[in-house]
Amino acid sequence: MIDRLTIDKILDAANIVDVVSDFVTLKRAGANLKGLCPFHDDRTPSFMVSPSKNICKCFACGKGGTPVHFIMEHEQLSYPDALRYLAKKYHIEIKEREETDEEKAAQSERESLFVVNEWANEWFQQQMNDTVDGRAIGLAYFRQRGFRDDIIKKFQLGFCPDKYDAQWQAGKTAGYNEEFLLKTGLCIRNDAGKTYDRFRNRVIFPIHTISGKVVGFGGRVLDSRTKGVQVKYQNSPESIIYSKKRELYGLFFAKQAIVKQDLCYLVEGYTDVMAMHQQGVENVVASSGTALTHEQIRAIHRFTENIVVIYDGDAAGIKASQRGIDLILAEGMNVKLLLLPDGDDPDSFARKHSATEYQQYLAEHQVDFIRFKTDLLLNEAQGDPIKLSRLVNNIVDSIAVIPDEITRTFYIKETSQMLSVEERIITTAVGKVRRKMREDRQKERERERHAETAPAGTPAVSGTSDAGTPADVVDSFPQDSQPETQPSTEDVIPIPISRSAGPQSQSRVEQTEALLVQMIVRHGEKVVCNVEEDGSEETRPLSVVEYIYYALQEDHLELRLPLHRQILMEALEHFQEENFRCDRYFENHPDMAVANLANELAHDPETLSKIHSKVSTLPTEEERLLDLVPHLMTDYKLSVVEDEMRTLMLELRSPEVLRDKVRQMALMQRFQIAKQAQKKLGKECGDRVIM
Ligand code: CTP
Ligand code: MN
Repeated sequence: MIDRLTIDKILDAANIVDVVSDFVTLKRAGANLKGLCPFHDDRTPSFMVSPSKNICKCFACGKGGTPVHFIMEHEQLSYPDALRYLAKKYHIEIKEREETDEEKAAQSERESLFVVNEWANEWFQQQMNDTVDGRAIGLAYFRQRGFRDDIIKKFQLGFCPDKYDAQWQAGKTAGYNEEFLLKTGLCIRNDAGKTYDRFRNRVIFPIHTISGKVVGFGGRVLDSRTKGVQVKYQNSPESIIYSKKRELYGLFFAKQAIVKQDLCYLVEGYTDVMAMHQQGVENVVASSGTALTHEQIRAIHRFTENIVVIYDGDAAGIKASQRGIDLILAEGMNVKLLLLPDGDDPDSFARKHSATEYQQYLAEHQVDFIRFKTDLLLNEAQGDPIKLSRLVNNIVDSIAVIPDEITRTFYIKETSQMLSVEERIITTAVGKVRRKMREDRQKERERERHAETAPAGTPAVSGTSDAGTPADVVDSFPQDSQPETQPSTEDVIPIPISRSAGPQSQSRVEQTEALLVQMIVRHGEKVVCNVEEDGSEETRPLSVVEYIYYALQEDHLELRLPLHRQILMEALEHFQEENFRCDRYFENHPDMAVANLANELAHDPETLSKIHSKVSTLPTEEERLLDLVPHLMTDYKLSVVEDEMRTLMLELRSPEVLRDKVRQMALMQRFQIAKQAQKKLGKECGDRVIM
């Protein structure tokens, strides 16, 4: 862990022109510099570097950002590793943050496992390349399968000799702790207390993390006839450093090519990945025979939006692809599929074709998931209405999981054309599935809520619920308040919030919410005013972020956008640190989504000019925080209340509610409360003279 102070030092030192110049030749262009973009195939210089803002950006592909972001993108490094890179460049000594004893212990165990794996990886390679048996058996096996030596070396393939405990003995001799030889799973101790090598008499495929550390191994039996008692592949067991469902084989070797091509091929096996590299296709990873997981898809999503799934052309492969498709679509990514001729996998197919033929086949045979499903099933369904409707439903289920509405509409159109089914029918079907999904989610949440056992009568505040049904509103209405009484105190008017955003008015709430978050990004750590400490005469300074946090709490409000919530919480966590500045922190945030939003908010010229006002002698934004922040807060609360009123109005008009007197009363009551709040807030807005 790098401590905050060091991070700031690095951020301050890193000069964008300096950093980019290491990779791109820059020429002056007015106040800026420009060059050929390193992130796409750029013919005319579209990559701009702004020394004054200390950022870079490509006007063609949009990539760029602060020096840290440039290094993350260009070198495909994580945030901390990009910081380390820059620290080295600027000769800044990294002070790692003090860790607790527990953290230290866990960290040192992880590190020990990595160290042992690194040793084992070397040992396996050396066994294969430098021993008689290794060359005659292991290396010969790979060569006979058609793998070139450069590929064997690149993937660090190895061999474990056919002896009971050769590795165990070698590990101990080299001074490695027995505990770690066992915990990595390299060696196994049986009930009789004897220890032996897991991978004996197998060829070895090391498995790397994104940054290239070895987390585990796969070992294949040498016999090409794998039928019988032997398990074809032995893999490292799960450990604190290896989780099969999180790793993707080959990602370390593929990441730069994935970014460059903006596309990732997904195959099943170790040898498929290698065979494709050998054919010049390097943007490929393998799920290693398991069903694709969310974690794996998300790992790919860091580098591209586009996946082409290549499955073996057998029944099992086709079946496996179906579930994968929906998972990828639900992640908001684009998926295409490619079926190989029956009986081939990417590896065997590679051996029958030249590199050019191979790449051409890949380019020509990928189809989107609708065509894939249609091709697969339409033949069977020909003339059979039941089978045909099953096919449509199958496709509808896939379309329904896509988060983006425009993409859904696009696929609905395509399905309609391909299957000659009216668009309207498919739209309705998709809507139905989505409603069902929403209801299921709702039920799930309710179940969770009950499990958390909120005391009866507590208003339900489920945070991000996006589908407040009328029933939900009634359920969350405080049961013990009496409909006929007016809110008791004059100055504390509760704002009734069902947390359900009315879609029509979302934009206004989001707008006012963004203005609050803008204040946090620009001024979060600065002081708005001084407040009295509870019960004492003393006062203490109240920062912008605290002000916003308390004001939201007061009315049990929560920001709606997850990114907004994240910025609020992180600002709250750090604002007291010495020299902490929200703008610097968020603009350089490791999460690109946060950083982009922060940059947008921090430099948004429209609000800057609005707030700086037309007369330049007026005080700056920073000098007017005491005015500005409370005003924006009131404005935000007003937008929330008005949104709530609109939602209530709609519900009051629904036929269901019209029939139900009790519910009508409850809703009316809520509406009245909201209206009062609106009046009060509106007055506050007007009273406060700003600008
Ligand atoms: N796999 C596994 N354990 C097994 C079988 C398979 O972990 N018993 C994983 C491996 O990662 C393997 C992938 O599933 O690479 C795909 O399996 P398969 O297609 O059977 O193997 P191939 O990769 O084609 O291996 P080979 O070509 O050497 O037979
Ligand atoms: Mn194979």
